[in-house]
Amino acid sequence: MEDVTDVVFRSLVRECGAPDVFFSEFTSTDGMFSPGEHKVVHRLERRPDESPLVAQIWGRNPENYFKASQKLASLGFDGIDINMGCPVEKIIRSGNCSALIEEPDLAAELIAAAKEGAAGLPVSVKTRIGFKVQKTEEWAGFLLEQGIAALTVHGRIAKHLSKYSAKWEEIGKVVALRDSLKVNTTIIGNGDVLTLEEINEKHQEYGVDGVMIGRGIFENLFLFDPDKTPLRERSIDEKLSLLMRHVELFEEFWKERKPYRVLKKFFKIYATHFAGASDLRMKLVETETSDDARVVIEEWKTSMNAYE
Ligand SMILES: Cc1cc2nc3c(=O)[nH]c(=O)nc-3n(C[C@H](O)[C@H](O)[C@H](O)COP(=O)(O)O)c2cc1C
Repeated sequence: MEDVTDVVFRSLVRECGAPDVFFSEFTSTDGMFSPGEHKVVHRLERRPDESPLVAQIWGRNPENYFKASQKLASLGFDGIDINMGCPVEKIIRSGNCSALIEEPDLAAELIAAAKEGAAGLPVSVKTRIGFKVQKTEEWAGFLLEQGIAALTVHGRIAKHLSKYSAKWEEIGKVVALRDSLKVNTTIIGNGDVLTLEEINEKHQEYGVDGVMIGRGIFENLFLFDPDKTPLRERSIDEKLSLLMRHVELFEEFWKERKPYRVLKKFFKIYATHFAGASDLRMKLVETETSDDARVVIEEWKTSMNAYE
């Protein structure tokens, strides 16, 4: 997830309970081979021991997909995922991501180029069930003919962004299609899943091989470990210690290299579900550096302890 699943957040989630696979933020294949390369490559930074980690890419130039895949293989990623699902206006305006649903021939070329460059690394696609109109089976059927290792299906059309409920019955149709086509592609469902129990329900009900979690991780950083107490039920002290850990990891890894505003977006994960949480959030929102945030957190802890 853009500005979310960077190396820092992945490290934190791993400490709380790792999923089976992590996906990077989406990275522009054009950006990777442009003079502005330095603006995008931070998305591909990883710890040497991070595995399995799949790099997600986007763009519409097959040559850059080939080169990007070669590079990602050399950087030690475990797989390459092509974003054909992002619905953001400025991205689709130039025919990228979910707009490729309307250009299957180019989509096929991009997949082929990525596979050629990846030299054996698994290549997967993340997509939606249509662009302006729903066409689950036509589009997924086409993708399943391209010999991809996995297909993640977000159960909405692009036009609907995150509105309405994800249509899991459509994702189930993709599983049935995969089975009837007798291809080996792993089917991963995505949309509105918040807990491990729901992951298991989706597996049982729709036959998906896996579930991709997006926003659910903001609700519970411990989501992937069934033995750990959910974040919401933890004490204020624990929430603040986790927040401090996040700040530390951010400082340790990014130092001055990433703008502080990226870190600020995470504060609401921790400062929630306790008396005074909204006051703390307001104080944190006003901070301008991670040092300021540390001071606010420490002061809050001190005043909390004094009160007890
Ligand atoms: C802040 C944010 C950033 C996202 N960035 C990406 C991205 O870079 N690549 C991608 O495939 N999906 C991205 N998504 C979409 C999610 O992966 C997911 O498909 C969507 O949120 C629906 O799943 P959920 O209900 O589990 O959140 C992003 C979503 C959010 C909220």
